[in-house]
Amino acid sequence: MLGAGAAGLFCAALAGQRGRRVVVLEHQREPGRKILISGGGRCNFTNLKVSAENYLSANPHFAKSALARFTPADFLALVRRYGIAYHEKTLGQLFCDGSARQILEMLLAECRAGGVQLRLGTAIREIRRDTRFIIQTDGGPVLAAATVVATGGLSIPKLGATGLAYEIAKRFGIEVETPYPALAPLTFSEEDRAKWSGLAGVSAAVEARCAGARFREKLLFTPRGLSGPAVLQASSYWRPGARLEVDWLPGATILDGRPESARRRLEMALPGRLARRFLEVEGFTQPILPLKKLEARLHHWTVLPAGTEGFEKAEVTGGGVSTSELSSRTMEAKKAPGLFFIGEAVDVTGWLGGYNFHWAWASAHAAASGL
Ligand code: FDA
Repeated sequence: MLGAGAAGLFCAALAGQRGRRVVVLEHQREPGRKILISGGGRCNFTNLKVSAENYLSANPHFAKSALARFTPADFLALVRRYGIAYHEKTLGQLFCDGSARQILEMLLAECRAGGVQLRLGTAIREIRRDTRFIIQTDGGPVLAAATVVATGGLSIPKLGATGLAYEIAKRFGIEVETPYPALAPLTFSEEDRAKWSGLAGVSAAVEARCAGARFREKLLFTPRGLSGPAVLQASSYWRPGARLEVDWLPGATILDGRPESARRRLEMALPGRLARRFLEVEGFTQPILPLKKLEARLHHWTVLPAGTEGFEKAEVTGGGVSTSELSSRTMEAKKAPGLFFIGEAVDVTGWLGGYNFHWAWASAHAAASGL
């Protein structure tokens, strides 16, 4: 097993408990660092409602099989068995009442129950296949009948992210969909940054739309652009050159009432500073506002982002090992029997809301069934 993150630890535990001898190789000194900081330290470990529609992938059907065989109820049964208290925050998102460390401790206990050997602080140099896989590490070679690559994607290099999964895929002639930062804040062009400067910290409940996807959640201004759940979600669908559309008043109107009081109605519906800046930037400076035109602009405001804040800030990596190369039942590579890819390394990227951890659990479970 390569990588002691969410997917690697869970797969190792399941395989160990099925009687496999499992060694986990991890280059960080600590396992599961992303689990510890996830969900603001409380780990949004799954979602009450998970389906393939909550994921982006070149093959939108690929995740169905693994998700059907390992559901949120299955993970919850484990969480309950460990007596970990949890709550639904919003939109089906389940968080620990206490700390994300409880999820990591649970996974480590499950690994111990499966007799899994964890080798931390172990850098992987090379992997090749003879009659078995030979993994060269700085602590010597490891020989294995099967190898599961669970080294994640490129998001947040300072937490240990590397492109090892893609390198291994390429080494075995396996296609990789170009990785890109997903669930990442979007940045303004210079011109837009000047127009919207000084609003950092201001948030509003909006609908953000991009490439046919729409998310009704909060938008947050940052010093460099836009973030907040609505924008993070939309960012996964965004590609350079595409526009982001924002409905600042989803399901509401400022048309009701007298034109003279429309300015005040807008200042009540949106944070006052944002409403005033919106009118100024969008050229609505007349004493009596042209209501129909303003209403249209409020529901269909568009911006051309300059980019995203990149892998440094992206919560996950989109793209990854092509699903066309893997068995959807076991995550085993069709071109390299015995080689499996799971978790974020695979071209299956979840929405914000516990879906990425759920993919880690479900893909780990699928691979463990094939080991
Ligand atoms: P993960 O990245 O967890 O693990 C990969 C492991 O491989 C790491 O331990 C890494 O050090 C190791 N590794 C990498 N390269 C290696 C190499 N060359 N040699 C050896 N080891 C190597 N999702 C969600 O559902 N709910 C949430 O609340 C959050 N919150 C959240 C917050 C923040 C700040 C981030 C950055 C991300 C989230 N996520 C999330 C996303 C979630 O953390 C992510 O999708 C899963 O951790 C992916 O699990 P994996 O095991 O695939 O990769």
